Amino acid sequence: MHVFVTGASGWIGSAVTAELLAAGHQVTGLARSEESAAAVSAAGASVHRGSLDDLDSLRAGARAADAVIHLGFKHDFSDMPGAWRTERAVVETFLSTLEGSDRPFLLASGVAGLTPGRAVTERDPNPSHGPDSMRGGAENLALEHADRGVRSVSVRFAPTVHGQGDHGFVATLAGVARSTGVSGYVGDGSARWPAVHRLDAAHVVRLALEGAPAGSVVHAVAEEGVPTREIAEALGRGLGLPTQSIAARDVDGHFGWIGRFFALDIPASSGLTRELLGWAPTRPTLLADLDAGFYTDPV
Ligand SMILES: NC(=O)c1ccc[n+]([C@@H]2O[C@H](COP(=O)([O-])OP(=O)(O)OC[C@H]3O[C@@H](n4cnc5c(N)ncnc54)[C@H](OP(=O)(O)O)[C@@H]3O)[C@@H](O)[C@H]2O)c1
Repeated sequence: MHVFVTGASGWIGSAVTAELLAAGHQVTGLARSEESAAAVSAAGASVHRGSLDDLDSLRAGARAADAVIHLGFKHDFSDMPGAWRTERAVVETFLSTLEGSDRPFLLASGVAGLTPGRAVTERDPNPSHGPDSMRGGAENLALEHADRGVRSVSVRFAPTVHGQGDHGFVATLAGVARSTGVSGYVGDGSARWPAVHRLDAAHVVRLALEGAPAGSVVHAVAEEGVPTREIAEALGRGLGLPTQSIAARDVDGHFGWIGRFFALDIPASSGLTRELLGWAPTRPTLLADLDAGFYTDPV
């Protein structure tokens, strides 16, 4: 398949690009700058210049391809409503372009906050509806198009897609530990975070592209829930810093924006995804990557 990938220069998108090319697919990656164009090109993909804010560029990219994988996102944590508005507009654009074509449309989503108190499964609906909701309600919008001639598939990623070179949440926690001198966890550290290695995540994206039916929800989750205390302890070992419990009232002051997120107990399963796609994660665990020293250098 010829696949148009947004976010092809990003953490997950670059791994997905490599995975698709290795499996014999052709990839065209969206690039908004010379730097991202060079990264997409160096990965062996064709470059489509444009941006998430240039909806015409997205329409043209989608029209020329057999499938779209949307992994681009504005990770501006100072303006999440703005990022969500963009996400909504981008997904609306892709869906209207692909409607009636039966072509695959995969979009990224997350597992956080869907079913407080228990592990979220692929069957649990996403409570975010409408443009002003989390991620612009884009997952539901896409899934609703499954009966309008789009093979839409939501890929919900674990909050840590880890590996060497990660600049996401765990790297941010490492930065907090470096600046405060302690590797903190919230309360008793029993809150759990699911995890997936970046290469396992890329593999399940390809399997979903090739085989997930319209309207599927797929969980890119290898570990259902790693206790946050164990994450903090492994970070502390790697950084040579003591591990310490942070009281709930001090979370914002100690961790900044990531504290409330690190406090969440958000286990997620992927049993249905493994059954549907025959996916079996094989890469190192989050704690193994932490112990391998991938989070000790500042990013
Ligand atoms: N990583 C995780 O642990 C994780 C967990 C759950 C969900 N997700 C979701 O999975 C998706 C991919 O995440 P990621 O970690 O790969 O993100 P990332 O490394 O931050 O990459 C984001 C991508 O989006 C592109 N982008 C940002 N703004 C753009 C714009 N205005 N126009 C065009 N492209 C733009 C970036 O291009 P440049 O190279 O030009 O900056 C980059 O290719 C996102 O939707 C994310 O929210 C990720």
